[in-house]
Amino acid sequence: MTDKTATLNVGDDSDQFPVLDGSVGPEVIDIRKLYGETGKFTYDPGFTSTAACKSAITYIDGEQGILLHRGYPIDQLAENSSFMEVAYLLLNGELPKKAELDNFSYTISRHTMLHEQLATFYRGFRRDAHPMAIMIGVVGALSAFYHDSTDITDPEQRMIASHRLIAKMPTIAAMAYKYSIGQPFMYPENKLSYTGNFLRMTFGVPAEPYEVNPIIENAMRRIFILHADHEQNASTSTVRLASSSGANPFACIAAGIACLWGPAHGGANEAALNMLREIGDVKRIPEYIARAKDKDDPFRLMGFGHRVYKNFDPRAKVMKATADEVLKELNISDPVLDVAKELEHIALNDEYFIEKKLYPNVDFYSGVILNAIGFPTDMFTALFALARTTGWVAQWNEMIADPDQKIGRPRQLYVGATQRDYVPVDKR
Ligand code: ACO
Repeated sequence: MTDKTATLNVGDDSDQFPVLDGSVGPEVIDIRKLYGETGKFTYDPGFTSTAACKSAITYIDGEQGILLHRGYPIDQLAENSSFMEVAYLLLNGELPKKAELDNFSYTISRHTMLHEQLATFYRGFRRDAHPMAIMIGVVGALSAFYHDSTDITDPEQRMIASHRLIAKMPTIAAMAYKYSIGQPFMYPENKLSYTGNFLRMTFGVPAEPYEVNPIIENAMRRIFILHADHEQNASTSTVRLASSSGANPFACIAAGIACLWGPAHGGANEAALNMLREIGDVKRIPEYIARAKDKDDPFRLMGFGHRVYKNFDPRAKVMKATADEVLKELNISDPVLDVAKELEHIALNDEYFIEKKLYPNVDFYSGVILNAIGFPTDMFTALFALARTTGWVAQWNEMIADPDQKIGRPRQLYVGATQRDYVPVDKR
């Protein structure tokens, strides 16, 4: 805390509030006593100016386009780390030493299987169910199967639940895909990497051996790392809010998956690829740019703009390079990538996008890569949920251990009817 205070003047009343200093980033006015001392609330729909918690996990400077996990820049992690390393870092605060990483990877690999009875849950869904609908259901149902890791007051149980969630999510997502195409579920193979195992469970079949393509494995590793955590975004805040009531971790992560599904959040990668396909040809880009700028048209350029980044999303840069790499290595020429690049070029030079500081976000290129790898569009958000689970569990653990944390209970500016008397139906 600094010695600084902020003064709030309302009419003749003047109140002082402490100003808190983070290790980096904007100062924060501590208004916890605002209501108690003044009888007033703040109004901030969408939390555009409200810090709802303290956190030491992820730092974003949206103006500069900087993203750090535990202090490490995202591009360095995406270039050099395994996904297990990043998961360990998010959960534990430091990069693991070799023995710690081996131990962590081994622990995760020992939790990859699902309780066999959970397979029957899948059969209750229609074959055309969206994988996110299945994931919300199955992840929520884990709490009915793993009672020994739902006591959130026990740090050891919290860690077991975290390991289970990180380990089982690839199995759950791959099974959702297998169910949709009517192929047998594939059991995990623990000698493979986290991403290699996921690729095999998704694209392998029991009838023949599956060779993991190292280029695709590497691209998936990067995609997972780029999606692993992103500070207090909507789904992470949902996980925190759900768990602030003491709900079990599986229920809370299911809530996070539900929130992530929306097109303004995790669903944007699916929406971005659909949009690029709809545009189809670079010649049609001006028409779509014009629509995006038209106030009377609800159309937005999907994969563009971000609540926090008012500069290039640093993840988008890595994603763009990965898209080039994957398509080149797989020898695919996808006109959608040409449309994406040209659209980016035109938008970045257009006054509307410059003035509003709208840049490509992480989702702009990820769909092109996932499509080239062979994922159907409705699996894109499921992959995001899989990767973001590490961030969710890290944030969840941090929150439970934070003595400042209380049940989340926002207040409101009430604009409805004032008190009035009930009128019987025949007199209305
Ligand atoms: N295309 C065209 N105009 C846009 C876009 C866009 N993609 N994004 C924002 N704008 C405009 C808005 O119309 C608004 O204009 P106005 O000030 O004239 O009314 C202005 O830019 C600010 O937009 P807001 O919606 O107020 O900004 P907010 O921070 O609430 O929204 C969001 C951020 C939801 C990401 C928005 O940019 C958007 O809808 N983008 C497309 C969806 C998307 O790609 N989402 C992925 C986000 S990243 C993630 O979740 C991993």
